[in-house]
Amino acid sequence: MYSFKELQNIANETLKNLNFEKEPLALYTPVKYVLEVGGKRLRPVLTMMSANLYSDNPEIALKEATGLEIFHNFTLLHDDIMDKADLRRNMPTVHKKWNENTAILSGDAMMIVAYGFFIGSKNPRSNDIFSVFNDTALKVCEGQQYDMDFEKLNVVTEEQYLEMIRLKTAVLLAACLKIGALAAGAPIDECDKLYEAGINLGLAFQLQDDYLDVFGNTQTFGKNIGGDIASNKKTYLLIKALALADHDEKMELEKWLSFSGEDLNRKVVAVTEIYKKLGIRELAKKKILDFSEKSKNILNELTVEKNRKKELENLIGQLIDRSF
Ligand code: IPE
Ligand code: IPE
Ligand code: MG
Ligand code: MG
Ligand code: MG
Repeated sequence: MYSFKELQNIANETLKNLNFEKEPLALYTPVKYVLEVGGKRLRPVLTMMSANLYSDNPEIALKEATGLEIFHNFTLLHDDIMDKADLRRNMPTVHKKWNENTAILSGDAMMIVAYGFFIGSKNPRSNDIFSVFNDTALKVCEGQQYDMDFEKLNVVTEEQYLEMIRLKTAVLLAACLKIGALAAGAPIDECDKLYEAGINLGLAFQLQDDYLDVFGNTQTFGKNIGGDIASNKKTYLLIKALALADHDEKMELEKWLSFSGEDLNRKVVAVTEIYKKLGIRELAKKKILDFSEKSKNILNELTVEKNRKKELENLIGQLIDRSF
């Protein structure tokens, strides 16, 4: 079985060999930039790891894996405009380094390039694979819209939050696992189980991302801390804090939610303090663990021989321990 590192190297090599040194430079240079500054390569690794459960050659899903990673990177360009984020992977975001129009159009080009990886496949299941990809891409837009809508809403329930992160994040990880298995010829009910395992992993992953946005450190996280608090993102942390706060704490949280001053750092520090006081960190950790356990349990149900599943199981464990 291929390890995370080996699959990550394959993904990196493949991305490096794509030619984005071409005209118009203003369109393709940012594409090259974002694809070369790294990232965990989680999506292509998941795709190939899933394929590797059913085939000794994980590269059977390499094209799809590459398309999925490029698609993911496209979403980041647009997401960083929407979230007004200046830093990603410890580098300036595309709209900061260039400008918003560049991030929009280079992002669009990346989405089109991503689709290209699904064309001309000789895989007998290429239609099913394409349809999973296409459905997923639309769901990500739906999730991103809810994420933006929720910034302006005062009341968002935990259930609504989970549905939003299922759409914006979890479906893509789920699609990676399903597409890898489909490409490798796995039985359909196994592909569906992998999708469900991916949904639970994705929920854990986004919860962890929201946690690290408050309690992580910029160096390892690669993004500025506190962005979610600054923009009133309705995260699990905030939803739980509002639910558990006493009268005074609730007033204070609400005051910060309608804060329109310049000094966002004060807001971030104050809201983080409330989270700490209310034990939100521990609650979030527990929730992350619950979803990752669910994901591992579903993985357990697969008919694949136990030690073939080890790499994927380890990866799920490592992801929720990540400080990156
Ligand atoms: C960032 O994804 C967007 C989220 C869904 C949280 P990753 O944390 O996988 O980003 P990279 O690709 O490793 O930088
Ligand atoms: C982004 O969620 C999910 C997508 C990119 C679709 P976030 O907005 O939390 O991701 P980061 O923190 O910017 O990576
Ligand atoms: Mg976002
Ligand atoms: Mg963001
Ligand atoms: Mg985030």
